[in-house]
Amino acid sequence: MTTYSLLILPGDGIGPEVMAEVRKVIGWFQTNRGLSFDVSEDLVGGAAYDKCGKPLADETMAKAQSVDAVLLGAVGGPKYDNLDFSVKPERGLLRLRKEMDLFANLRPAQCFDALADFSSLKREVVAGLDILIVRELTSGVYFGEPRGISADDTPGNEGGRVGVNTQRYTSGEIRRVARSAFELARKRNNRVCSMEKANVMESGILWREEVQWVHDNEYPDVELSHMYADNGAMQLVRNPRQFDVIVTDNLFGDILSDAAAMLTGSLGMLPSASLGAPMANGRPKALYEPVHGSAPDIAGQGKANPIACILSFAMCLRYSFGLGAEADMLEKAVEKVLADGVRTGDLMGAEGGKPVSTTEMGDHVLTALSAL
Ligand code: NAD
Ligand code: IPM
Ligand code: MN
Repeated sequence: MTTYSLLILPGDGIGPEVMAEVRKVIGWFQTNRGLSFDVSEDLVGGAAYDKCGKPLADETMAKAQSVDAVLLGAVGGPKYDNLDFSVKPERGLLRLRKEMDLFANLRPAQCFDALADFSSLKREVVAGLDILIVRELTSGVYFGEPRGISADDTPGNEGGRVGVNTQRYTSGEIRRVARSAFELARKRNNRVCSMEKANVMESGILWREEVQWVHDNEYPDVELSHMYADNGAMQLVRNPRQFDVIVTDNLFGDILSDAAAMLTGSLGMLPSASLGAPMANGRPKALYEPVHGSAPDIAGQGKANPIACILSFAMCLRYSFGLGAEADMLEKAVEKVLADGVRTGDLMGAEGGKPVSTTEMGDHVLTALSAL
């Protein structure tokens, strides 16, 4: 029997709370579907900083490189806001993404029918929505050099300090994420919309040209369109169902995926998969995490919605383990729970009602799994 190795990094804030529900789901699949997981757990973000003065220990990084998949909760929080930049919790996550070379970040935004009235947009705009944002994750302005803040803060020298970040892409980096987007589109509705700002940025011109090159030479059967990212943001809230797959850079992808979250009802619903090149076993290096952060405003209160994290595990079953049927099951169970009207606080509409806690939501998903 295949044993799948998993490294769980719960992180900070609501990270450990939502990850506890994923652990229950993993246990359910072990008991009821005969799957075998070798699960280890470690620290990332502020939790790691508190223990070892770094947001990611080298041993944890090495472990992440050696497992079949990493599951991450969330990192960050006000306690760590004034730390030196180099040891901020977020640096731990960025190191994982960079060193594992997880260049393709898949952020699906699906509107479950039961939640169509919870979106901040009208039901008729979002009902049935199923789009996939493919965000480049290891380059662009997040990592480009030069970067930093100049040391010149001489009193009286107003305007003397400079903060620098560099948007930089190579053609190879653009081509590989474009290939991921075209491959994924072929399994969906065969349409890719690429977003950049080629009207003001040279890196945007290169992005557009390289995506077009990959299309013309390797994926001429997929429908490709290009859009400036600012128009893309507007189109996402005007008529999101016009899109199938959106491919975009690291920063635009970060922003557009948070906006897409609200189309689905709540940021607490959006999962993600960060994938690298295939390993020797043919599966990609991979890290799965919800799109949301550590939600300091509700942390420790049992209010967090665990669905984004649970659906991230469904993506893990599908992309890292090839267990598509099990992934479908888990997604169906979530859909059933929502259809039954079970809601965490973030999904409560104007009509009110009593929200369930994080753990209760997890229990409902297990019950629905057992009833399938
Ligand atoms: P956030 O995503 O943590 O929270 C934004 C809002 O959404 C908050 O009101 C929060 O309560 C709500 N929310 C988020 N997830 C929810 C869930 N599962 N259930 C119910 N409500 C939920 O974003 P933020 O407040 O801008 O950032 C807080 C911290 O998290 C920062 O330190 C930031 O750097 C970090 N962050 C981490 C990640 C990550 O680990 N991948 C992602 C985004 C932000
Ligand atoms: C995300 C987060 C991260 C990002 C932070 C926490 C580094 O916002 O995963 O969307 O900006 O990529
Ligand atoms: Mn983000």
